[in-house]
Amino acid sequence: MDLLANHYLAHITELNRRVADIVSRENLSGLVIHSGQPHRQFLDDMDYPFKVNPHFKAWLPVLDNPHCWLLVNGKDKPQLIFYRPVDFWHKVADVPDNFWSEHIEIKLLTKADKVADLLPKDIGQWAYIGEHLDVAEVLGFKTRNPDAVMSYLHYHRATKTQYELECLRRANEIAVGGHVAAKNAFYNGASEFEIQQAYLTATNQGENEVPYANIVALNRNASILHYTKLEHASPHPRQSFLIDAGANFFGYASDITRTYSFEKNIFSDLIAAMNRAQLELVDLMKSGVKYVDLHIETHKKIGQIMLDFNIATGDVEGLIEQGITNVFFPHGLGHMLGLQVHDMGGFLHDERGTHISAPEAHPFLRCTRTLAVNQVLTIEPGIYIIDSLLEGLKQDKRQTQINWDTIDKLRPFGGIRIEDNVIVHADRNENMTREYGLD
Ligand code: GLY
Ligand code: MN
Ligand code: MN
Repeated sequence: MDLLANHYLAHITELNRRVADIVSRENLSGLVIHSGQPHRQFLDDMDYPFKVNPHFKAWLPVLDNPHCWLLVNGKDKPQLIFYRPVDFWHKVADVPDNFWSEHIEIKLLTKADKVADLLPKDIGQWAYIGEHLDVAEVLGFKTRNPDAVMSYLHYHRATKTQYELECLRRANEIAVGGHVAAKNAFYNGASEFEIQQAYLTATNQGENEVPYANIVALNRNASILHYTKLEHASPHPRQSFLIDAGANFFGYASDITRTYSFEKNIFSDLIAAMNRAQLELVDLMKSGVKYVDLHIETHKKIGQIMLDFNIATGDVEGLIEQGITNVFFPHGLGHMLGLQVHDMGGFLHDERGTHISAPEAHPFLRCTRTLAVNQVLTIEPGIYIIDSLLEGLKQDKRQTQINWDTIDKLRPFGGIRIEDNVIVHADRNENMTREYGLD
């Protein structure tokens, strides 16, 4: 914890510097950042799991307390209005007393609807940052999530502080422990449901704590890109396993994928080839490189693998131009990672919010930025046998370039994705996932 404590003051000093810059430009007194409110389930007396506003958890690792407010103006010590009701039904949060609390001025709020008493009197000069626009209106905010402020914060969020990098490392370390347990469970015959339990136990995180719904897919289910169902039965025969699962540390996410073959066969060879390609892509990351170019490079590598494994015939350029590689690799190379799994700002090219979309041929790419020092991104190439997409190929002359026997052989295995989380440094890349020992 010492390392985090040492970096924390520099972290909020940097956040304060950003706030000072943007509020002076926008003629605001400051920002009031709302942690959020619980969302009630329809016709029920229960709430959905609470998900804190990412702008709030950027300042403090308080992830589970709605009705909190943070007042920041770039000059003064940040003020936290911390919700502590008298409530015998629910666990009430303890008064903060840890490495960050000495750097924050804390006021306690016992009734959520009394927050106006603790907010600044000139509230019209402060911008509300949060989800509940109706609440902000009632409180008298004139400015809510202004574009100029959001673009500025989202653009700069891509550059992580040392504190954030350390949180992301720990999120990787925890998830790697889960991946090792999940891999062992797979080879020991576990069902998807049992593998999920093994993962959660090893990470010591519940399914509402991990940063996204884990993908735990056996056999053909590995071809479903967002497969989040968990089958309880153990399939026979056992062929393959794809797991896309992360962990949360102080509100920062890891996002890791591995694929395994139960036996040594064409699929294990294909995994090995994809793994080599993935590591080569990570090696291409460096400050000044356009992420879109890495995505295009991925298509070249996948095209070559398709030729090497007799999945398709022709040449790499032709496979890309005709959209054949797109059928086997239909998602983006990856995305920025941080407070959110798909961190905001992937399309922003300056702090004013200039948006550059993904190229038309690659609509699912989530990042078009130029890499820079202290950015954190995932690199997650994949290759899948997706019948609904293959149908499209069957409709035209491209079908003659596909070796359908190989497709039939690979179909039972579903697909492959290999995903690591990487920090771009000035002189090297730090592949956090591999450095914590995941092959
Ligand atoms: N787990 C979500 C993703 O890889 O983007
Ligand atoms: Mn993932
Ligand atoms: Mn990802």
